Amino acid sequence: MNSKPMGADGQDTAVPRRIAAAILSSLKGGVVPRIGLPYVTVGREVEVQAFLTDLDLIAAGGASFRFLVGRFGAGKSFLLQTVRNRATGENFVVADCDLSPERRLQGGQGQGLATYRELIKNLSTKTRPEGQALRLVLDRWVTASLAARAADPAGPDPDAELFHELEDMVHGFDFTYILRAYRDAAAAGDDLAQGACLRWLRGEYRLKSEARADLRTGTIIGDDDWYDYVKLLARFLTGAGYQGLIVLIDELVNLYNIPNATARQNNYEKILQMYNDTLQGKAHHLGIIMGSTPQAIEDRRRGIFSYEALRSRLTQGTYAREGMRDMLAPIINLQPLTYEEFMVLIEKLQRIHSGYHGCPERLTQADLVRFLTDQLSRVGADSHVTPRDVTRRFIELLDIVSQNPDKTVAQIMDEVLGARASAPTAGEVGTGVGAAVAPATAPRDPALFAEFQL
Ligand SMILES: Nc1ncnc2c1ncn2[C@@H]1O[C@H](COP(=O)(O)OP(=O)(O)OP(=O)(O)O)[C@@H](O)[C@H]1O
Ligand SMILES: [Mg+2]
Repeated sequence: MNSKPMGADGQDTAVPRRIAAAILSSLKGGVVPRIGLPYVTVGREVEVQAFLTDLDLIAAGGASFRFLVGRFGAGKSFLLQTVRNRATGENFVVADCDLSPERRLQGGQGQGLATYRELIKNLSTKTRPEGQALRLVLDRWVTASLAARAADPAGPDPDAELFHELEDMVHGFDFTYILRAYRDAAAAGDDLAQGACLRWLRGEYRLKSEARADLRTGTIIGDDDWYDYVKLLARFLTGAGYQGLIVLIDELVNLYNIPNATARQNNYEKILQMYNDTLQGKAHHLGIIMGSTPQAIEDRRRGIFSYEALRSRLTQGTYAREGMRDMLAPIINLQPLTYEEFMVLIEKLQRIHSGYHGCPERLTQADLVRFLTDQLSRVGADSHVTPRDVTRRFIELLDIVSQNPDKTVAQIMDEVLGARASAPTAGEVGTGVGAAVAPATAPRDPALFAEFQL
């Protein structure tokens, strides 16, 4: 190779090996890496800004509700993960959960409670990013509370104000009863009782009789009222020194897929309740974001728009349309990444790949352009190539290039992208190239290229 490889400025070569390995294997598998997100993130500044504005509002005692909508592989989970990192970094507690056939917002067989339990299991903070942070959060509160009491033993209960506010909320008395029990157990060093309180808060008691025996309370968190406890938890967290709670619910398509119409409507009703709560000031210090495909929202037969009360609230205003976005609207549509953003992404990936494998960056700028032009010209006019498609195929190409040093990059690209003349042929703009995409070289007729299968 005569031409200078991309990324020779060495800017991103310092990605730690462990992180580089996680990034490369996740992206090749088409999923979001659990660590190292900032090393590969491109674009999404506008969306992230919208969520950061929400964080300010939530910290100030408000609430927000957003849908994050995009096609399969468009980057919804990636953006949710980014929000999660930003939020925990700003001292929020984040609970996240993917819906599934067993995990819904409401269901006759405990599917709503299963979602609550998953959310609590995944509760994370800055210092506990991998979840299981409930105990940590409670202990942080108890430590401060017991210290305040020790400093002024004859004074009023240091948590009186907090408890008072919680008790104004639905199920507030049940919730503060458990908080008090936890605090007393901690003061007495009673691990067993603390464990029972944790079990109760995690929604793990299935029988009231069990809770009564362990904790002398006749209530347990159930399928129909779990969301009340999410609101209570959000409010409580400020008393434990956090800014609030961010709830991320992904894979909303699972509600769309519920076969029974009534069961589906019940779930949509729950969304309506959450949405109304945030608008009507019934929730505090709480942000909810739900990730969904466009169909699961817009389908008038089974999607969220089949529920008239939600459709009328959520349909875009008269003024917002493609190219003119309203970032204050409840639905945030993920736009396709632009050509430039894709270019930055594959440049970063090549740098990480070569750093990790200790091999040279063999793809030149012209090679990258060729790869990208090929990818972007193969989609139909009604759809857009997704970051998942591009990252998977590009990392596979890098793997092949690094394992075949005896072949030129051009030879390998001829083989994997489909046999063709290596010099670009001037031609018409491929019909499939999306409006957001502006290839830097003369675009080629997509019909000339064979499909590239993984
Ligand atoms: N802004 C971005 N910058 C870099 N990589 C991205 C970006 N968005 C998405 N990706 C990568 O693209 C792939 C697909 O993204 P993601 O899993 O978030 O899509 P999705 O919309 O959640 O898809 P699905 O509907 O199938 O759940 C992932 O490997 C992710 O890391
Ligand atoms: Mg996803």
